[in-house]
Amino acid sequence: MADLSSELSVLVGSLSPPMLALAGSAVLFLALVVGRLLYTTFPPGKRPPIMEGIPFVGGLIKFARGPWKLLEEGYGTCGEVFTVPVAHKRVTFLIGPEVSPHFFKAGDEEMSQSEVYDFNVPTFGKGVVFDVDQKIRTEQFRMFTEALTKNRLKAYVPAFNREAEEFFSKWGDEGIVDFKDVFSQLVTLTAARTLLGREVREQLFEQVADLLHGLDEGMVPLSVFFPYAPIPVHFKRDRCRKQLSEIFAKIIRNRRDSGRREEDVLQQFIDAKYQNVLGGRALTEEEITGLLIAVLFAGQHTSSITTAWSGLFMAANKKHWDKAVDEQRAIIAKYGSDLSFEALSDMEVLHRNISEALRIHPPLLLVMRYAKKPFAVTTSTGKSYVVPKGDVVAASPNFSHMLPQCFKDPQAYDPDRFAPPREEQNKPYAFIGFGAGRHACIGQNFAYLQIKSIWSVLLRNFEFELLDPVPAADYESMVIGPKACRVKYTRRKL
Ligand code: HEM
Ligand SMILES: *[C@@H]1O[C@H](CO)[C@@H](O)[C@H](O)[C@H]1NC(C)=O
Ligand SMILES: *[C@@H]1O[C@H](CO)[C@@H](O)[C@H](O)[C@H]1NC(C)=O
Repeated sequence: MADLSSELSVLVGSLSPPMLALAGSAVLFLALVVGRLLYTTFPPGKRPPIMEGIPFVGGLIKFARGPWKLLEEGYGTCGEVFTVPVAHKRVTFLIGPEVSPHFFKAGDEEMSQSEVYDFNVPTFGKGVVFDVDQKIRTEQFRMFTEALTKNRLKAYVPAFNREAEEFFSKWGDEGIVDFKDVFSQLVTLTAARTLLGREVREQLFEQVADLLHGLDEGMVPLSVFFPYAPIPVHFKRDRCRKQLSEIFAKIIRNRRDSGRREEDVLQQFIDAKYQNVLGGRALTEEEITGLLIAVLFAGQHTSSITTAWSGLFMAANKKHWDKAVDEQRAIIAKYGSDLSFEALSDMEVLHRNISEALRIHPPLLLVMRYAKKPFAVTTSTGKSYVVPKGDVVAASPNFSHMLPQCFKDPQAYDPDRFAPPREEQNKPYAFIGFGAGRHACIGQNFAYLQIKSIWSVLLRNFEFELLDPVPAADYESMVIGPKACRVKYTRRKL
């Protein structure tokens, strides 16, 4: 570049001063443009190593069994950055904190979500999230955020408690349950109350739960690559989606007409307005339905699975269990038996146990972006690569949480790693169960409060005994949680 501009400056030397200023900026401009072009067409630095030995569809098949094996091999042979050809695409993995900042921090114009997540469009619906451009999506995410602020969460806590208490009051003095099923049911009820609203929870629950189930079933591995493939589960998904629109349109119209307001996320969306796009209008009924479905998809299975893993680990270790029970006693002494927002927020021991379950078993195994621009990464050993534009780029909470340079003895269930002085989660981009940076989970506090509310009710009223060993993860399902595990409960009073 220096050579080019010095040649040009010889030429510029003969020009009059005002022209010089102009030409000067022209040179600078030209240098920038050429530099930009050179950079994008011939990126300086080499591309990440390609993981060898994966035949054309091999990558696809390996993915279907969870990413662990593939990542273990790639990380072992290539290091922190490597590319896997998957079908006709290139997927570049970034493993560990050193190579992760750009992935999590960059804006959507560089690291984009819509190209990799747009298979959700037929489920969420038109006009929301991955079906709209980035400006509109950003405002919709802002609406999510505003529906989940601290003040809003305070209003949802009584609903968390009430649902948990009602649910477990139906249990007998002893019995055998499977945590995964139990919490899936309970979290659906709670989501109905806090997100979808009173009308759905009290009058339409069975019907709406069935329709949502139809949406769930319409998400099969094929849907990720061909979301519109003409297969029966997709037809059913589309029918269910349409009926959900009709149900919510009615509810929204009723609320708008009657002027009656409720304490739920639905109400937040009804009241929300765009700020800098679409003329500042309110959300349409169709958009509200879509956003509610998107929030449910982000928060429901992730929360119920984390609730289940937390309980499995706690119940498997008597020492851990007793200490959490002690904490409940201390909290009751301090706040009374009411599970207030403040009481739940003060449960540090339980909090760390949940975090540790999430570290060992993050329900979202991979988070992905699409590289709209090439970018450089440097590994911890000083190797530099340029990831080309057009790559799918992925980070893996499941794999990264097992790096011994971030988490001491990573396979061990050890909640104290989250406590001072260790606080291993504070290393940037080490603990990514909720993502990080620009698109970090908006529902994190909602999730912790809900899971703590459920476990507080259980710790105060039951003892548990695992009748099977702590189960492995079940990769047969689309959202990955624990395999079946029989747990015996016995009622008691604290
Ligand atoms: C234990 C439970 C949960 C886990 C493990 C979890 C995990 C995650 C992760 C990893 C991301 C980042 C995805 C990415 O970077 O591509 C994310 C984003 C998100 N989560 Fe959660 N989540 C949980 C609960 C919830 C709940 C309860 C809600 C809503 C009530 C929610 C709403 C969202 C939303 C709206 C985003 C998108 C943020 C954005 O893209 O800017 N999540 N979550
Ligand atoms: C939770 O974590 C703490 C460490 O902070 C541990 O000592 C305790 O036994 C755990 N309790 C449960 C219920 O797992
Ligand atoms: C993630 O990683 C571990 C390896 O430590 C594996 O055994 C585990 O089951 C994986 N998957 C899930 C869903 O937790």
